Amino acid sequence: MTPAFAEPDAPSRPIHVVEASALDAWLNAHPVATQTWLQDSGFKANLGDLRLVPDGDGRVAGAVLGLGTADARRRTRFGAVKGLSALPAGDWQLEGPIDPAQRDEIALGWLLSTYRFDRYRPAKTPQAVRLKAPEGCDPVRLTVMAEAEFLTRDLINTPASDLGPDELESAFMALAARFGAATQAIRGDDLIAQGFPMVHAVGRASARAPRILSMRWGTSGPSLTLVGKGVCFDTGGLDLKPSSGMLLMKKDMGGAATVMGLAQMIMALGLPVRLRVIVPAVENAVSGNAMRPRDILTSRKGLTVEVNNTDAEGRLILADALAWADEENPELLISMATLTGAARVAVGPDLAPFYTDDDDLAEALSAAAAPACDPVWRMPFWDPYEPMIEPGIADLDNAPSGGMAGSITAALFLRRFVDAPRYMHFDIYGHTPADAPARLKGGVGQGARAILTGLPAMLGL
Ligand code: BES
Ligand code: MN
Ligand code: ZN
Repeated sequence: MTPAFAEPDAPSRPIHVVEASALDAWLNAHPVATQTWLQDSGFKANLGDLRLVPDGDGRVAGAVLGLGTADARRRTRFGAVKGLSALPAGDWQLEGPIDPAQRDEIALGWLLSTYRFDRYRPAKTPQAVRLKAPEGCDPVRLTVMAEAEFLTRDLINTPASDLGPDELESAFMALAARFGAATQAIRGDDLIAQGFPMVHAVGRASARAPRILSMRWGTSGPSLTLVGKGVCFDTGGLDLKPSSGMLLMKKDMGGAATVMGLAQMIMALGLPVRLRVIVPAVENAVSGNAMRPRDILTSRKGLTVEVNNTDAEGRLILADALAWADEENPELLISMATLTGAARVAVGPDLAPFYTDDDDLAEALSAAAAPACDPVWRMPFWDPYEPMIEPGIADLDNAPSGGMAGSITAALFLRRFVDAPRYMHFDIYGHTPADAPARLKGGVGQGARAILTGLPAMLGL
């Protein structure tokens, strides 16, 4: 499924966009019949309120879309987009004075709202409403953003029965092939021979072989490496998750899906970077050869890790992946992972919590988040908690007892495997719990558009 705007020169009907405070002026500039119609039907230009407007013959001449107040817009991302798909079939275009931020939010929100996960149940009705790219927006960039988000959502929404490590590898290789990126895959026992002991330890109990995937693209510019957690299903291993906790765990490759979406945007837009993407792809399963609580693993970097809970598997595979990435000392290193339930408890499903020691990076990212409609929130690499991840018997503990600051201790764990000075880590949720404007219930990318938008500032492009 690919997102698209309507053809630019096909006939279309207008959607007049009106802020609540500008409604009276707008009404006064329109025919009395229109004023009466909208006033009688109680139109107040509330955010997302959409009304059809008839012509003299009673035909649909156009529509008005309320933009509400700035306060209302702060409370609802993509709020204006709600309802656009209820328009009569055909092509539509935005009309009226509209600030660029609103214009781009509606245009992007519109594209994102057309997403359907139709792999197992084809859509009953094809998309009949189409929006033209509003004047002044960058339709190519917005379409690239939506297409990447669709990739991320499709990967997250696909159940583990159809998206194991093998299928995630296929998707990774297809993405690389599309843009001519060079690839590498190390699978099964080769992981031991080539120094990825913790990827192997986490994934070896599955009937589907663990692996680590890498792609490289671009020949000049600063080096940027993205690492994404690719746990295709997380049962918790021997410290098995309760059923309620396991229910959503097909999404545990959300970090991989999100860095793949981000990589697709970077390559499609031809950003001047040397990009590398690394995905450790495994299934955290149970078998006679599964890793056990209190096993001690020696990581690629040489640090030893006591496994105090086999359900804290993400940080184990990421540790080896980050160590591999770090060996090249990339100018910017970013990891994304559905790493902890604690992150969800802290900030809920909307915000992408991120960690970095670099204030400039944090500022550049935070500034980029609003225009990208992709909210992020900085969390602390709080050094005084370092002792919490030190078990005494090994260098590191993957699951500190007590569960205090679970997202922070996971982030501190990952940071032990990185020497590159500019490192950012995202502990994302990757799932929308209920339908919201432009965000269908189910898999969702987080942070990728904010990073893309912030990259020029972060890398001096
Ligand atoms: N994939 C989970 C984290 C997760 C759970 C993300 C729910 C989003 C929603 C991860 O592998 C995990 O199980 N983490 C444990 C770590 C704990 C055992 C230290 C957690 O967060 O409970
Ligand atoms: Mn887990
Ligand atoms: Zn997990």
